[in-house]
Amino acid sequence: MQLTDSEQAILDGESGEGAQKAMELVVALGKIYNADGLVDITSAHLSGASYKTIGDGGLKYLEDMVKGGAKVSVRSTLNPIGMDRERWAEMHISEEFAKKQNRIVDLYGQMGIQTTCSCTPYTGANLPKLGDHVAWAESSALSFVNSMVGARTNREGGPGALAAAILGKTANYGLHKDENRRPTVVIEADIGDSLFEHSLLGQAVGMRIGGGIPYYRGIRPGIEEGKTMAAAMAAAGAVAMFHVEGVTPEASRYDVSDLEVIHIGKEELKEAYEKVNTADDVQLIALGCPHLTEREVHEIAMMLKGKKKRGDAEIWFCTSRAVREKCADDVRILEEFGPVLADTCMVVAPIEGTFSRTGTNSCKAGNYLPTLCSQRTMCQDIAQLLKVIS
Ligand code: F3S
Repeated sequence: MQLTDSEQAILDGESGEGAQKAMELVVALGKIYNADGLVDITSAHLSGASYKTIGDGGLKYLEDMVKGGAKVSVRSTLNPIGMDRERWAEMHISEEFAKKQNRIVDLYGQMGIQTTCSCTPYTGANLPKLGDHVAWAESSALSFVNSMVGARTNREGGPGALAAAILGKTANYGLHKDENRRPTVVIEADIGDSLFEHSLLGQAVGMRIGGGIPYYRGIRPGIEEGKTMAAAMAAAGAVAMFHVEGVTPEASRYDVSDLEVIHIGKEELKEAYEKVNTADDVQLIALGCPHLTEREVHEIAMMLKGKKKRGDAEIWFCTSRAVREKCADDVRILEEFGPVLADTCMVVAPIEGTFSRTGTNSCKAGNYLPTLCSQRTMCQDIAQLLKVIS
């Protein structure tokens, strides 16, 4: 792996301990994956922000990085944390958890990271351009920018993305290179237009192919459909990039005539549905995985307008701070039913202390709620879920 003189100097510690540690990590990853060198990045998106997932060990790691003088050198945004920074008490969060969580956010802020705490930074704070090299963690977001935007990132982990953010560089391998962005399989999708069916499609494809780069025909996803598919494919499998014929920027570059073709229709969606449905009733309904967009907040508000909250189940609407502020009128309608939470989500919040059965319209959450939050799940269309509470 070739390093320039200035990169080698960072590795030798000439730019301080924080930068040296970052370079050691990026170089180690590069060696594992046979990178030929480093590539400049235009942005980073960091995961590993919830106290629930990183614990005291992660907090100590961040303290050490800050002590070592680590600072990011490119635009960097942060994934959801374990609570809404203002409304954590409504989420049944303890004071001790809140204190440590706030410390984590503070440390990221001290390193120059925008503490947006959202998994949809591409809708506002951090939207890369076609062909940009970036270092993103958060499997749904990185797949979205690879696929729907045409930026280039590998599936970074939290520490790898932080190291790249500090250096403004990442190791040049995998999806940073043209030859690794080719489709590996064609998916003929025979599904309806609903958002939920796109989530089930992602689930079915992730279950069927595991990894690789699917090339879709038969769908025309917008932002919302693209993000839910990306999330489901990355959770049910390990898909970090997909193409959609006629939609995604790089799809037309490839001849796919020799590839295997897989048909995904009603039967496959049914199998996917059964995998993520393990509960008949719920104590919590949590919408917004990935975080709700303005359009989604508006559509949910229109579904709830004029209705009354009923039953004991709680409902949380998870979105970004920016969307919550922009959609004040719709948010008022949603708030009659449950909190519109920013900064957080149902998977990285410690919901297992309060709930054991959760409803979601996201197959990504349908995969992770059982494993990371000990939940049984009801995974349904939003309209179906809203019938439980209205
Ligand atoms: Fe985002 Fe949490 Fe889902 S980080 S993609 S809402 S699991």
